[in-house]
Amino acid sequence: MLKIANIVGARPNFMKIAPIHKRMQKSDFFAPLLIHTGQHYDEKMSTTFFVELGMPKPDLYLGVGSGSHAEQTAAVMIGLEKIFIEQKPDWIIVVGDVNSTIAASLAAAKLHIPVAHVEAGLRSFDRSMPEEINRVLTDSISDKLFVTEQSGLDNLANEGVAKEKIHFVGNVMIDSLVEHLVKSRESAVLEQYRLAPQNYVLVTLHRPSNVDNYDNLNMILDIFTQIQTELPIFFPIHPRTRKMITNFNLDDKINKMPNLILAEPLGYLPFLRLMSQAKIVITDSGGIQEETTYLGIPCLTMRENTERPITITLGTNRLVGINKQAVLQGFSDVMQNKKFDHQLPPLWDGNAAQRIVQVFENLVN
Ligand code: UD1
Repeated sequence: MLKIANIVGARPNFMKIAPIHKRMQKSDFFAPLLIHTGQHYDEKMSTTFFVELGMPKPDLYLGVGSGSHAEQTAAVMIGLEKIFIEQKPDWIIVVGDVNSTIAASLAAAKLHIPVAHVEAGLRSFDRSMPEEINRVLTDSISDKLFVTEQSGLDNLANEGVAKEKIHFVGNVMIDSLVEHLVKSRESAVLEQYRLAPQNYVLVTLHRPSNVDNYDNLNMILDIFTQIQTELPIFFPIHPRTRKMITNFNLDDKINKMPNLILAEPLGYLPFLRLMSQAKIVITDSGGIQEETTYLGIPCLTMRENTERPITITLGTNRLVGINKQAVLQGFSDVMQNKKFDHQLPPLWDGNAAQRIVQVFENLVN
């Protein structure tokens, strides 16, 4: 039996690990251990997801909480090193690009515990993003690299990563989406907020480059002020963004938008329903670019670059930065029902976790 430590820390990790961990639990080949670093800790940012995704409670919880990058990364490393020494996992699996991902990888690699990285090879080529540093470093010390899209294969080849370490398996986050889409329709979130299908804009924003900078956040709110005169905006707000709006004295601007509905961060199922029935999504998230591509919902991404280029070449994603004209043009294209053509990226079929689990089963066989 392989003892595999599956590591999660922050909100976007949960839907990626869930399908892998659940499959391993059902198989005789594995003794999976679920470890939560506690990078995200609010009920709405964490526990809710475990319940909705049908994940067991973590076997071990570190409770590192918030802090500067160094504080958070160091706290995860110190906590996990102790656990890894005690538990002696054969492998650890990390997902995505958050601080917990690199911290866990580094702690394991120094103990000679092999690391598998799910969502490897994505590159924005923008080192000012903390996630880009996390991605590059995690990949460089990983022993298995599971890739979601062609650009990931190209980037890893360019970086000289040995071919035998790389597995093109598809997208585990789409596994979770496929599994829960029907169930998400049972959520009453649209009725609760009096939203009609295809008749609202769904917004998420939390990137430090957008929300920790006054000029950018102010400009974004100006853009929303205009958009909400045409279509209601629904905005479940990340704690970081909520805090920055108040710090920058921008609450007034929010209050002056009658068609902007602010909500607390939402669970996975209500959010999935909102996304699947939106007219348009405006975001700076990484994962949402992929989920909207799968769902065929037009997505305007308020960033200058994306590490997920397939969402543009095959999907419904368009990069608009925080350029007012580009955002309004994209919005107007959607309102005029101009086509946002899309094709499903290869292997985004709900079976990525199965492919990953198979790779590990082959190690035992
Ligand atoms: C982190 C990830 C980012 C991911 C995002 C999803 C890194 C570097 N960033 O960013 O890649 O897209 O998660 O949400 O790992 N807070 C709470 N409650 C919580 C968690 C956070 O109130 O449960 C607040 C705290 O004030 C904290 C701030 O949010 O300081 C930021 O949290 P942090 O984990 O540092 O980064 P995120 O912005 O969430």
